[in-house]
Amino acid sequence: MDLHGNNVHHIGYAHPRLIDAIRRQMDKLSFAPRRYTCAPAVKLAEKLVDVPPAGLGKVWFAPSGSDAIEMALAYARAATGWFKTISFWDSYHGAGFAARSIGGEAMFRSGPIGPLLSGTKHVPPFGDYRNAWGVTEGSAELCVRMIRYILEKEGDIAAVIAESVRAVPYVPPAGFWPAVRQACDEFGTLLIFDEIPTGLGKTGKIFACQLVANAAHVGAVGLRRLRGIMDRHPLIGDVRGRSCLMGAELVVDRTTRTPACDAAGAVLYQALNRSLDFKTTMGNVLTLTPPLSITERQMLQALEILKESIGEAELKMGITQS
Ligand SMILES: Cc1ncc(COP(=O)(O)O)c(C=O)c1O
Repeated sequence: MDLHGNNVHHIGYAHPRLIDAIRRQMDKLSFAPRRYTCAPAVKLAEKLVDVPPAGLGKVWFAPSGSDAIEMALAYARAATGWFKTISFWDSYHGAGFAARSIGGEAMFRSGPIGPLLSGTKHVPPFGDYRNAWGVTEGSAELCVRMIRYILEKEGDIAAVIAESVRAVPYVPPAGFWPAVRQACDEFGTLLIFDEIPTGLGKTGKIFACQLVANAAHVGAVGLRRLRGIMDRHPLIGDVRGRSCLMGAELVVDRTTRTPACDAAGAVLYQALNRSLDFKTTMGNVLTLTPPLSITERQMLQALEILKESIGEAELKMGITQS
């Protein structure tokens, strides 16, 4: 069972309708040279601008997420005449140089990789369970303040660029993005959302078709079950997410919240032995991103495997289950 899928297996693997559509298109026209467009691309673009949020009137297709970031930053420079950006520490936006520069993970930024793009400012991200300010609530407001502060001090920031829902996963409180939007508007800065893993239904929102309704339903069932597992397994310090983007943060101790990275690795390998795959984020967050087509039964089956794997890791660590 693949609860990873790089966040792009929304309709699972080998869906017959997708394979049929690709096969028919390959027979008809396999490539549209630069001077031309083609009907399926136009149709898809029209479909994309029809979905919320309103006001998105243009589509440019990119061959990868990293390239999309590159293009968005180029547009931001052209539109504002400025080159600086604000993004989040600990974020990942891809492996190209622009994406690495705005990304906030040391592994992609440090060592012999540099120099990176200049003018890429970073702020600590929101997330009440774990954040740079050491607060247990209100991190989102502090994050907005930091963004506003830099916007004001620099005065020439081209764009704030971030994932609308953090991959870890942290869903921001309701007023967070409107507050950032307002600050951006005040200082003539663009707001760019990287929706590469979360777009097209992962969080149960975009597209009101039956596929996404299923994601919202099964995701809610999954999160509820995951919280139930947390009640009995002290290795889990926090459960969060939305729909088909969910996470369980493993900690050595719930009071100190020390990340249990070794345990997360052990749980992953235990789960892989039982044919369940998922991602670990920031070393200690078990991040589950099932396809939107997952059934309730499959979701619960996957979480049962996860529960057994966590139980085994706890036993090895001498942690008593309640
Ligand atoms: C938030 C985010 N942005 C950008 C990317 C880069 O996408 P790609 O691997 O298609 O270049 C990823 C990939 O995981 C991602 O998670």
